[in-house]
Amino acid sequence: MLRTHTCGQLRKADVGSEVTLCGWVESKRDHGGAVFIDLRDRYGLTQVVVGPPEANSALIDEAGRVAAESVILIRGKVTDRLEGKINKKLATGEIEVRSDHFEILNSCETPPFTPSQSDMPGEDLRLKYRFLDLRRSDMQRAMVLRSEIVKTMRDYFAEHDFIDVETPILGRSTPEGARDYLVPSRVHPANFYALPQSPQLYKQILMVAGFDRYVQVAKCFRDEDLRADRQPEFTQLDLEMSFVDSDDIMGLIDGLVARTAKEVLGKDITTPLPRMTYGEAMRRFGSDAPDLRFAMEIVDITSVAKKTEFRVFRGTADSGGFVRGIPVKGAATKYSRRQIDELTEYVKGDFGAKGLAWFRVEDDGSLWSPISKNFDDAHLAEIKELMSGEPGDLLMFLADTWDVTCKGLAGLRKRLAGELGLIDPKELNCSWVTEFPMFERDEESGRWNAMHHPFTAPLTDDLPLLGEDPQDCRAQAYDLVINGSEAGGGTIRIHDSKTQSQVFELLGIDEATAEDRFGFLLNALKFGAPPHGGIALGVDRWVMLFAGLDNIREVIAFPKTQKAADLMTEAPGPVDKAQLAELHLRTAKVK
Ligand code: AMO
Ligand code: AMP
Repeated sequence: MLRTHTCGQLRKADVGSEVTLCGWVESKRDHGGAVFIDLRDRYGLTQVVVGPPEANSALIDEAGRVAAESVILIRGKVTDRLEGKINKKLATGEIEVRSDHFEILNSCETPPFTPSQSDMPGEDLRLKYRFLDLRRSDMQRAMVLRSEIVKTMRDYFAEHDFIDVETPILGRSTPEGARDYLVPSRVHPANFYALPQSPQLYKQILMVAGFDRYVQVAKCFRDEDLRADRQPEFTQLDLEMSFVDSDDIMGLIDGLVARTAKEVLGKDITTPLPRMTYGEAMRRFGSDAPDLRFAMEIVDITSVAKKTEFRVFRGTADSGGFVRGIPVKGAATKYSRRQIDELTEYVKGDFGAKGLAWFRVEDDGSLWSPISKNFDDAHLAEIKELMSGEPGDLLMFLADTWDVTCKGLAGLRKRLAGELGLIDPKELNCSWVTEFPMFERDEESGRWNAMHHPFTAPLTDDLPLLGEDPQDCRAQAYDLVINGSEAGGGTIRIHDSKTQSQVFELLGIDEATAEDRFGFLLNALKFGAPPHGGIALGVDRWVMLFAGLDNIREVIAFPKTQKAADLMTEAPGPVDKAQLAELHLRTAKVK
């Protein structure tokens, strides 16, 4: 190595040693004939002094001219810092290196931003100059955390006898339900590979092949609308097991969550993690990934709404809709009429609600609202009772379809908890949501879609519902939820062809289509497939949640923007005509 130590390594015990350090010039101060340089690498920061008597004036001048973010090498002696100059915040803060040799290994042009500047540059600039951005300590911490989490995962599964198997990136379309990224074939004109949305089909085939316990850190590709917690290419910790049921998979992942939280964050997580069915999650929190770090549970007041004179409540209840609300503790004086109007616009705009009804619980325990004149005192008392309302509370209600009340109230819960500071940013709240519906209906076409994917097994008790009442048929499915985000999801798979055909039929996938899309899997299932199931954990989301961040791009070294572009390499980009011709492609004119 060019260096003897890193920039984070030297302590008081090293005083007197001759050392060589390499790193980047984080900052430089000229103090009457001596130049003080903060030298940085990923391990830390060391103060270097280039001054008399060790350094001659030529060396001091050269140090004075070195540009920020240049890479330098220095040699010198470790010395105690002067009394009063000790920096307790820095691990190396008790010492400095007095340099008698100084080399610029590579100088730096004026950077568009520096890693140490306190105000963050805009994200586009950070992504374009990602090599500078990745020098920032926040980014380095995130990358180290990511590496530790993945290492813990790999160790854990290796200890549990899992075999790491790589699966292809160039393959056939997989069934996760997003749009595929396609790769044209040069050798087979007009034919395309699809990049995997997940290794789902391969891992099932590995079970048929007898591998029994498969694991992989797998790249997945989905061309879908991006959000703060979604990237077009992301990483799964993907696994599959034979001869297991849902409890086995959840139990295994419980152990992983506890182990990772302990090893990486030093946090104790109690296992088994709490479990809640999908039905209960929607009833109590309006979401299949409920944030359990705060209460504000949804209460159904449809039974009272039916009895009131308030047109909106009664009309909704009479026509089969629901009136549900959330108690916002102590918020009555915190939200002005104008702010409540903003919340009303939010639930209308984002969730298609028709309005937002609200009541304040007054000091005398009565309910007040612009609409309270439409209610008998007895009904108001019943509403307050159901909502466990106390003086100072704000009670908010949506009258609508089940879906809109779920989405709208879940949105309000999240927004209000943020605004009211109800969330402890240090908490890591992990739980399971189970028994998802097998199918969801596509609003436009009225057709059934698989809620997870078409190979998911129904609960044994619900098998008879496949025929008549598919909407009530529940799946052997489980999602891991961390702090209100879906951090993983999996299912037990169908391993008999009769149930599989029934499910395909319901999904409107006829035999020819099934054969065309998944023929190789269906074929494999006929050759001695063991009962099996698995799960995939969203690695990027785990790192984001463990780091307490809310943007997945902060934990990916080279992420894509919301528009799926890589600003550093400028991908995607055009290709020349010859390359297109070779691939038997022509591009259409884009208007
Ligand atoms: P699923 O589609 O639920 O299941 O994905 C598993 C987990 O991957 C993460 N995830 C994402 N992370 C970042 N960006 C995305 N675009 C993205 N999409 C998904 C989530 C999610 O919980 N083959 C099945 C697993 C199985 O059944 O075993 C699958 O892929 O954290
Ligand atoms: P309106 O009679 O439409 O002026 O509504 C009276 C109040 O009820 C307003 O505060 C609306 O925001 C609210 N409101 C209207 N429709 C709904 C609804 N579907 N659910 C909850 N509140 C509503």
